[in-house]
Amino acid sequence: MRVQHKSIIVTGAGNGIGEGIAKRLAAEGGKVIVNDVNAVGGQRVVAEIIAAGGTAAFFQADVTKSADVKALVDEAVRLHGRLDVVVNNAGWTHRNRPMLEVSEDEFDKVYAINVKSIYLSAIHAVPAMRQGGGGSFINIASTAGLRPRPGLTWYNGSKGAVITTSKSMAAELGPDNIRVNCINPVFNPDTGLVAEFAGGPVDEARRAKFLATIPLGRFSTALDVANAALYLASDEAAFISGVCIEVDGARCV
Ligand SMILES: NC(=O)c1ccc[n+]([C@@H]2O[C@H](COP(=O)([O-])OP(=O)(O)OC[C@H]3O[C@@H](n4cnc5c(N)ncnc54)[C@H](O)[C@@H]3O)[C@@H](O)[C@H]2O)c1
Repeated sequence: MRVQHKSIIVTGAGNGIGEGIAKRLAAEGGKVIVNDVNAVGGQRVVAEIIAAGGTAAFFQADVTKSADVKALVDEAVRLHGRLDVVVNNAGWTHRNRPMLEVSEDEFDKVYAINVKSIYLSAIHAVPAMRQGGGGSFINIASTAGLRPRPGLTWYNGSKGAVITTSKSMAAELGPDNIRVNCINPVFNPDTGLVAEFAGGPVDEARRAKFLATIPLGRFSTALDVANAALYLASDEAAFISGVCIEVDGARCV
């Protein structure tokens, strides 16, 4: 059990990559708070974790709202006495299209869910981690933040902000024994955001074009990302901070 007894929050865990992370961490002994704005998805994930013998509870919260994020952190401490790990996974993108066609409201929503959420998690979770003698943030960024493609400009920029912010948090929080790392997944066609990333249904032509850029010859899965998150959350990564693990099959362009 690689994260036995750790008190863990996974945001946006009612679907997709976050669901995979919550399940993997719970299977390795973590006590997981499954967060999402979507109660149906979050409660389903919790029921599935409990049915598999794990420990999980659902907490509905919007990661863009300070009072919600504070309540989420308070719930982890109330239930489990401390807070060890926060996986900032909740994310959103504008639809793939020319950058000048993305509205100001969409831009604000991308930055609120992808970037402001990191700020709010720091504001509310760092004091709880300091109280417990340390902790670990795992922020889900994207290959989009490193090797951007046209059509997702504002999303790509938000993920670049997640990467740089994570490295800066790591530098500043090291003396508190708080580690901060990122994971950069490549495209996963089995999640809720897939049509937005692709700008429409992922037909065979689109699939083949994208796959050709991934030397390992397949897309990422939630389990691929969850395995990286498990390592970063575990004590095996005790001296790993300020890194981004690229879970991208060596995507080259
Ligand atoms: N799917 C991919 O190809 C891919 C690739 C690289 C990075 N990512 C990143 O992975 C993360 C997870 O995305 P996914 O692909 O699993 O998408 P998804 O839509 O399947 O899951 C995202 C979850 O976040 C929740 N959410 C959205 N806004 C929220 C908010 N304000 N507060 C709380 N929860 C909220 C949604 O309800 C949903 O359950 C995102 O940060 C995304 O940018 C995804």
